[in-house]
Formats: sequence, C-alpha cells, structure tokens
Amino acid sequence: MAVGPGCLAGKLASRVGADAAPILAFDGVAKRYGTLQALAGVSFQVNRGEVVCLIGPSGSGKSTLLRCANALEGIDAGRIAFDGVGVDDKATDVRKLRRRMGMVFQNFELFPHLTVLGNVAVGPVTVLGMQRNAAAARAMDLLRKVGLADKAQQHPAALSGGQQQRVAIARALAMQPDVMLFDEPTSALDPETIGEVLSVMKRLADEGMTMVVVTHEMDFAKRVGNWVVVFDRGQVIEQGPPRQIFERPTVTRTREFLSHLGWHGESLATEAPLVERQATAGRDSFEAQLIPTGSGGHPGADAP
Ligand SMILES: Nc1ncnc2c1ncn2[C@@H]1O[C@H](COP(=O)(O)OP(=O)(O)OP(=O)(O)O)[C@@H](O)[C@H]1O
Ligand SMILES: [Mg+2]
Repeated sequence: MAVGPGCLAGKLASRVGADAAPILAFDGVAKRYGTLQALAGVSFQVNRGEVVCLIGPSGSGKSTLLRCANALEGIDAGRIAFDGVGVDDKATDVRKLRRRMGMVFQNFELFPHLTVLGNVAVGPVTVLGMQRNAAAARAMDLLRKVGLADKAQQHPAALSGGQQQRVAIARALAMQPDVMLFDEPTSALDPETIGEVLSVMKRLADEGMTMVVVTHEMDFAKRVGNWVVVFDRGQVIEQGPPRQIFERPTVTRTREFLSHLGWHGESLATEAPLVERQATAGRDSFEAQLIPTGSGGHPGADAP
C-alpha cells in the first residue's frame, strides 16, 4: 500500500543514517489473523542511528509489526529485511536474528527467581556463551548505565515498575543488539516512574542506539524521535520528521488522532514553558523536560 504523503521521506536528505543501507526495511508487509487484516501493505525503513517512533490508534498494527520484525510472527505478503537479509528467508537463522534485536515489552517479564544482576547476565552466559565473571561485569556496567547498580542483588519483586523496566532495558542491551525494539515500554507504569524510563531511553538515543519505539508518549516521539510513522488500520498513513507529524500533519486521520490525545499543532509550534506532570520528589527530571504546559500525559488519561 502506498505510504501517501510519507513519500516525502525519500526527498529529505537530512534523515539520520540516510547515507547507508537501512538496518530494517519493511516493504508492502501484510499480515492476517483469520479474516482480520492486521497489516495491509506496510512500507517504511529504519536507518542506523535513528529513533523511529510508531504511533497510532489501538489495534492499528504497531505491535504486530514489531512481532513480525523479529520473526515472532510470520507475514503473508511483502518483505522485511534486517541488515539486508530477509527475515523470512529460508536461510535466515531466526535465533541469531533475534539476538541482534533487543526487545522491551510493556510488561517487563523479568525472571522472578533471579537477582537483578542475574537477569541481566543470564542471556550473555546462556546464549552467547560468555564467562560468568565477564557477563557479571558487563551486567554491572549496564545497571550503572540505567542507574540501578545499587539494586544488583535485589530480586525484581523488590523493585518499582520503572526500575524493573530499566532492568529489562539493561537485559536487552546485554546482548549488544544492533537495534532496540520497544513496545509501549512505559504504558504499564505509574506516572511517577515513566520519566526515569524515558530518561534512560533518551540517553540510549543520544549514544546513537538505533531504536524503534511504539509509544503513546507524544512528547518523547516529538523530542527524541528522528522519524515518526503513523499507523491506522494496518496501514502507514503518514510518516516524516516529528515537526511535520506534530505541527503540520498532512493527513486528516493523523490530525484527528493527535487531537484525540490533546495535541494541537498551534501549541507545539510555540515552545511552551515546561512543567512537571506531577511534583514527585526524587524523580528523574527528564519527564519534566518533556511535558509542555497543558499536555494531557498518557492518552488513556484524557481520551474522550
Ligand atoms: N494473535 C492475534 N490473533 C488474532 N488477532 C490479533 C492477534 N494479535 C493482534 N491481533 C489483532 O490485530 C490487530 C492489530 O493489533 P496490534 O496489537 O498490532 O495493535 P496495536 O496497534 O499494537 O494496538 P495497541 O495500541 O492497543 O497496542 C488488532 O485488531 C488485534 O486485535
Ligand atoms: Mg500494541
């Protein structure tokens, strides 16, 4: 299916990583569940070093696309290429492919019987065959990176949701992936812990990690994303740089979706003063930096 105004993509020389082959390319991807067309010809690409945010209404196919990208689901038509190789190709070693894609879900899915350190070190030991000491050292480095070195010996149950999600990010990073796929990483979190997870994700982006992020956090998409892809009913209805999508969307459905979330181009065009969503002591300041005055926060909170 044509990407419509998203074709603008090809004309923008400034897109991050455009000088090299994309790490992920979706070309006419279709996926059915019975009679339901979950993906109906999705085409877009993810360049190295880009943060690509996938937004769109519930049921529009965003999670399905991520599952197809790392071969958790097969596709019915089209092609998905990872680093130039077809995900569906017979010769593709799916386990090797998945190792190169770090996946972070809404529900962190940590191993409850392992310590925080154990959760991060277990993949490199069991999958990559790394020595235990080396894996533990790498895990500690990553826990430091996500601000949780002091929790290394705790079990997940003793951590807040935001802390558990940061462990899940460290666990994915421990496999040294080429790309990180996030599926609504903050939507199961209490508002006061959302900021600390977004902060870690922003730092990753600043370090040049290639990221695909399904999110309802429009502030994040606008300020951290390099490229935004708008889904609706299994199709990409628009794609482009955040300023285009959030300030000058060319497709009516995009405007409707954003305004449903309380977003209006006018308020974004002027850099509104920033306020904290909630005055929570000790919280990372990133959320505060992200939330402009008048923003409604998570869409679930203010949907009509
Ligand atoms: N395993 C499945 N079996 C049958 N239908 C499915 C399955 N997974 C997804 N679907 C359907 O496919 C469509 C796309 O679902 P998907 O989960 O990809 O949407 P989404 O954009 O991620 O939505 P949300 O924002 O609510 O997470 C929906 O209609 C959903 O009900
Ligand atoms: Mg989803």
